[in-house]
Amino acid sequence: MTVKSSLIDPDGGELVELVVPDSEIELKKKEAESMPKVKLTKIDLEWVHVISEGWASPLKGFMREDEYLQSLHFNSLRLKDGSLVNMSLPIVLAIDDQTKEQIGVSKNVALVSPQGDIVGSLRSVEIYKHNKEERIARTWGTTSPGLPYVEEQITPSGNWLIGGDLEVFQPVKYNDGLDHYRLSPKQLRKEFDNRKADAVFAFQLRNPVHNGHALLMNDTRKRLLEMGYKNPILLLHPLGGFTKADDVPLDVRMEQHSKVLEDGVLDPETTIVSIFPSPMHYAGPTEVQWHAKARINAGANFYIVGRDPAGMGHPTEKRDLYDPDHGKKVLSMAPGLEKLNILPFRVAAYDTVEKKMAFFDPTRAKEFLFISGTKMRTYARTGESPPDGFMCPSGWNVLVKYYESLQES
Ligand code: ADX
Repeated sequence: MTVKSSLIDPDGGELVELVVPDSEIELKKKEAESMPKVKLTKIDLEWVHVISEGWASPLKGFMREDEYLQSLHFNSLRLKDGSLVNMSLPIVLAIDDQTKEQIGVSKNVALVSPQGDIVGSLRSVEIYKHNKEERIARTWGTTSPGLPYVEEQITPSGNWLIGGDLEVFQPVKYNDGLDHYRLSPKQLRKEFDNRKADAVFAFQLRNPVHNGHALLMNDTRKRLLEMGYKNPILLLHPLGGFTKADDVPLDVRMEQHSKVLEDGVLDPETTIVSIFPSPMHYAGPTEVQWHAKARINAGANFYIVGRDPAGMGHPTEKRDLYDPDHGKKVLSMAPGLEKLNILPFRVAAYDTVEKKMAFFDPTRAKEFLFISGTKMRTYARTGESPPDGFMCPSGWNVLVKYYESLQES
């Protein structure tokens, strides 16, 4: 007898899964060989991964124009039954003039990985204009030079977008020794059910875990227990796709996260560490909605959000690109995220009196030290230790080694 899962429903009611069954792979591959080819970038392939496992459910492929326009203008998609799901980032595939020409009136195209393998197909395609300036301005709220995703992925891309229904021939793998951490939404749901979780709280991150992050996660667990939940499970969910050059690379972060669990800063018994395959936009309040929405699909019904989620420094001015409080405010009001419990947190900083990371108290502002990413890098580079209680020593060592290796190269 199968027991019905008590986890939150995926957006659209059913989890999208677009990997072709084993019995059809050979036939589908053969068919794809005769289709016009679309070459994917590394980031396109990350999106293929994301869509194929259902992180963007109910989206079934790269966006067609009507989905693109809804995402760009409303940050959401209207479903046939009239309900809304959140969809704040356009998930689109760009092609150049020559590829468009080659596709002509073909209905279906084959998708080719950067390594040259046919990884899947896009069916009943629709091709429409890629107005990059409009896309960038609406997604980031600026067209300033120096936006990492724009420079890496959008500026060099073609002037057309191609949408359609996606099929992939096998699950996307990276063979980097970290694939076992890449659990799909379906696998995560199974794991939460196996553990009999009665609440799942997700923590998105792209940085090493410091004790301020841990404070947010441990405080959430306490709150959930006080609310009457008996077995809340933490999904520690580092982002694994594209990140900007000065962020700490995924393999180093995974090692650092392992130390944090070994050290008991987070409880390994009630935590699942897994990799979220999405690339990073650094689009602040717009992007944090995507981060939250994707975690609903993985079974999380609580979402932690703190200071300046998915934010970064302004690329040309000396200030944050976004108001650091807007991410949590927007998330609490976002269309299509009503069923997700948002847990907003104040900023955490190093309390120099208590000698630990604590929630910032503006009445004694002078006693708090803000340790930014830049400051952390400076500590590690100069061999100086951060103040005691900022991060567990074994986790800090992982970062020191990484920054030392950068200096040597
Ligand atoms: S993010 O791009 O993934 O959002 P990061 O890894 O820095 O960046 O942050 C992960 C989560 O921790 C986000 O919800 C962010 O708001 C929160 N956060 C990061 N630093 C702090 C801090 N000092 N105080 C409170 N929340 C924080």
